Amino acid sequence: MNQPQHAVPWWQSGVIYHLYVRSFKDSDGDGNGDLAGILQQLDYLSETLKVDALWLSPVYPSGGIDAGYDVTDHTNLDPLFGDLSLFDRLLAEVHRRALRVILDFIPNHTSDRHPWFLASRSSREHPKRDWYVWADAQEDGSAPNNWLSHWGGSAWEWDAHTRQYYLHTFHKAQPDLNWRCQALKEAMFAVVSFWLDRGMDGLRIDSAHYILKDPALRDNPPNLYPELTAYKPLGEYDSQLHLYDRDHADTHGIYRDLRRLLDEYERLDPHHPRLMLGEVSLFDWSQWVTYYGAALDELHMPFNFGLLGAIRTAREVRQVVDAVESILPAGAWPCYVLGNHDESRIASRVGEARARIAMMLLLTLRGTPVVYYGDEIGMHDVHIPASRIQDPWELRVPGQGFGRDPERTPMQWDKSTHAGFCQANALPWLPLAEDAKECNVASQLADASSMLTLTRSLIHLRHSSTALTVGSYSSFSQVPEGCLVYERSGPHERWLIALNFTNEEQFIRLAEGSHGYLVLSTHLDRQGAVDLSVLSLRANEGCLIVMEIQDQRVHLS
Ligand code: NOJ
Ligand code: MG
Repeated sequence: MNQPQHAVPWWQSGVIYHLYVRSFKDSDGDGNGDLAGILQQLDYLSETLKVDALWLSPVYPSGGIDAGYDVTDHTNLDPLFGDLSLFDRLLAEVHRRALRVILDFIPNHTSDRHPWFLASRSSREHPKRDWYVWADAQEDGSAPNNWLSHWGGSAWEWDAHTRQYYLHTFHKAQPDLNWRCQALKEAMFAVVSFWLDRGMDGLRIDSAHYILKDPALRDNPPNLYPELTAYKPLGEYDSQLHLYDRDHADTHGIYRDLRRLLDEYERLDPHHPRLMLGEVSLFDWSQWVTYYGAALDELHMPFNFGLLGAIRTAREVRQVVDAVESILPAGAWPCYVLGNHDESRIASRVGEARARIAMMLLLTLRGTPVVYYGDEIGMHDVHIPASRIQDPWELRVPGQGFGRDPERTPMQWDKSTHAGFCQANALPWLPLAEDAKECNVASQLADASSMLTLTRSLIHLRHSSTALTVGSYSSFSQVPEGCLVYERSGPHERWLIALNFTNEEQFIRLAEGSHGYLVLSTHLDRQGAVDLSVLSLRANEGCLIVMEIQDQRVHLS
């Protein structure tokens, strides 16, 4: 096997770990994960898992409404997590281990308690009035148009003092910024520079495709076929086609400028490539792909969220991956996820056996894998009693399944009280899973057949193979229903990945007389030479098979 080529930037060859700071590790007994907790667990990340980069959920002071996504100060640390000097220490230690840090950057909105918004709402004449999206009421006093908040109800909130409405795509405590205002744009770019100067390796841009809307504020048309436009129901928000309240063409100019800023840092320090990763939850790939930029001069990678829904069946996964592969321009690099802090846990969505297949898929696809914390041990959604709900979406639209606390619960480290997340006498901010005594890092490290062992093996194999890291992808059509088979090829190797998404044994028939070497099964119980004229896969089994490219006998169709 060949080492991955060094010409490839870290964000392309590496595995990103999505670390939900408040739930990772509490160091000071307040029941909230913090930066010092991350410092304590760096061996786990860099030595045990061997991931390459950490995406930290928002760490800034916030209004406490939306888990840090309602920022009150962009250039400081929430005291819950630490302070700037601790951040610098963490970054230095992370870099010493050749890891990287990606910070959440939230350009669409701030908290309504951010000094910018307080100034903006103080009077219509204030120079910062224009930093947010304000509009007059209609003649009858109603909201300027029919735009809806993601979390139910109008996206407009009346401000009695200045007698105008302000826009909020999310919670009313998260007023939308106005990126058409040059001063605001400069202020937000200065925020990015602040963190780049400190050494941040990349940013994950929150709600990236929302930042610019129709300047004429036209009404959205009704959505007659919600099931075609969303991968999961979002309630009232699905009743419209979101033509005018997001994804405006001018957005691309902003990202081109932001990319220029990052590129300038890279030009001055070519050994420190910086990443722009963006949350673009669009499911029309021709629309989604525009965020790479016409000249690949915008986001390095917009997340691709296609697997979230597709993971149900082999056929849907193939449709998504093949469609994404065929639409990506040369040089554009995909980025996949199985879940995140906004989605039900993969193990709860598809079950434990299939979560293993999903992990093998994620870590063998062409594209940067982003692993959500806890998925490496197969953590499940945790039931949250009503009295402990934190998520504003659940509080605003209760009982309809929108709550995101179940997938944000504390990391399960060992079988001690609170699973080693915090001290025994502390109250964790969200309850621990009931199965934490069995499902935790320590017990899975000691178990050769565990999900953690599988995840570690997959990351290790990906790192050790150019083909699995940056090789080409092609899928096979002549396979049984319920199976997904694809090949990853590099100059010196070919890998075959065969995944059985069904509850029955399946037989994959490839070329007569061809052979390979099975390196890893999701069941972690077999290895060795396999006959590829008929490859048998047990129920819910995935296999990673290597074939020497020089072996002329192997001709797969
Ligand atoms: C997307 C984030 O992932 C989500 O958690 C947040 O609530 C919204 N953006 C609003 O910032
Ligand atoms: Mg703490």
